[in-house]
Amino acid sequence: MTAPAVTAEPSRDCPLCPRLHDFIGEWRGREPSWYNAPVRTFTPAEGDLSVRLLIVGLAPGLRGANRTGRPFTGDYAGDLLYRTMIAYGFARGTYAARPDDGIELVGSAITNAVRCVPPQNKPVGAEIATCRQFLAATIDRFENLQAILTLGAIAHQSTVRALGERVAAIPFKHGKRYQVGNLSIFPSYHCSRYNTNTGVLTEEMFVNVFKTIAEAIQPLD
Ligand code: URA
Repeated sequence: MTAPAVTAEPSRDCPLCPRLHDFIGEWRGREPSWYNAPVRTFTPAEGDLSVRLLIVGLAPGLRGANRTGRPFTGDYAGDLLYRTMIAYGFARGTYAARPDDGIELVGSAITNAVRCVPPQNKPVGAEIATCRQFLAATIDRFENLQAILTLGAIAHQSTVRALGERVAAIPFKHGKRYQVGNLSIFPSYHCSRYNTNTGVLTEEMFVNVFKTIAEAIQPLD
């Protein structure tokens, strides 16, 4: 008997990581108006077949995606990410840090290596490994995918493993481009407040990654 196909989205009450399940439960009590659930992949209105670029973040921020329900929305990191996506035609509209701001993705999708908010923004290895089944199914659902932008070492390594490759062969290095079958992988430092405040990632460095990706992506026939 073959194993059932794994869906690309965990259930709203996904019990697979007890620590994350409990943490979300605690925040449901504290902030009942928040989203407080695994955050689903943000996809374009044009549908899955239009997606050529997948962006993989780390995990929802407590007061960002965990509150709003949309990846990088309400997080400091989202300001730079959505601004740069709009500049390179991967999103349109105006980003206003709210899930009803009307911003639309264009040929792109945004997901997280870990779908539930982790305490202190730090998922543990077992949680990253458990949630990888959803990341792998997410990569699979986009039949015309050409490129993956991995934000930070954890997202990068989990993506590499989801693709069945060895991390030692495809190490995280900002600004590199790797080829895995038909997919180009572009690692970047995460666009977090910490990285931009400390100068680990400048806006110019981030923009240059998007420039390279935009040049690498082929238009759909
Ligand atoms: N918000 C997300 O959804 N993911 C991140 O990696 C950071 C902020």
